[in-house]
Amino acid sequence: MAEQTVQFKVFRYKQGERPSYQTYTVRVDPRTTVLRALEQIRQEQDGTLAFRHSCFHASCGTCGMKVNGQEVLACVTNVLELGTPVVVVEPLDNAPLITDLVVDMGDFYARYQPAGMPMIRESEFLPDSQVPEGVEHHMRLENCIECGLCLSACPVAGSDPLYLGPAALAAAWRMVEEPRGRDPATVLAWVDHEHGCWRCHAAFECSEVCPSNVDPAGAIMALRRELTRRKIGQLFGRR
Ligand code: SF4
Ligand code: SF4
Ligand code: FES
Repeated sequence: MAEQTVQFKVFRYKQGERPSYQTYTVRVDPRTTVLRALEQIRQEQDGTLAFRHSCFHASCGTCGMKVNGQEVLACVTNVLELGTPVVVVEPLDNAPLITDLVVDMGDFYARYQPAGMPMIRESEFLPDSQVPEGVEHHMRLENCIECGLCLSACPVAGSDPLYLGPAALAAAWRMVEEPRGRDPATVLAWVDHEHGCWRCHAAFECSEVCPSNVDPAGAIMALRRELTRRKIGQLFGRR
């Protein structure tokens, strides 16, 4: 496969040092992803470059970063398809920087924990893998891979540290849609405030970068509709 060289301008930061950018020249072919290129840099040029990954196939959510200013999963971002002579690689925004391309996801996960109501739910296993009669295919209902791309892209999260954020609000809507024993009213009360679903400015940046079809902004609009429906119902004595 025809190889060519591409320049990578990579954000660097080590504790106690000033942040900077370092440029590397990397051999790529038409199948090289940004994650593979970073691995090549680490193996052949600079063993101190830190980044995170696990699955290599858009499932674990750990390789989120900004490439040419856009939040992406590095493992499924093709270098040559970016079409730029220099590829700029930076860590996600709206999360504390640990080192190089690695951010602290602790705050992101903490947003999923309303008091006494953990958002993370056990997986459900189908009794068998047969598709029931009359059903064409199984649908995946829990799409979020907790990659944090949406939070990085969210301008409101950048200006309001108390904002629950797109992923947690999308998870809340899933619990309202499909409560599995939870009380939807409790979930709705958790998002019904100035740092909850009403804080979103509805420009859908989060949905644009989401690699897993969660559509967090759509979920936030659904939360608003459901809250409005219930409030109007209460006004007129209906549920
Ligand atoms: S649509 Fe709302 S949640 Fe999504 S990025 Fe914009 S402000 Fe944030
Ligand atoms: S909603 Fe999408 S972008 Fe946000 S964490 Fe989940 S998978 Fe990632
Ligand atoms: S390495 Fe798992 S999503 Fe990219």
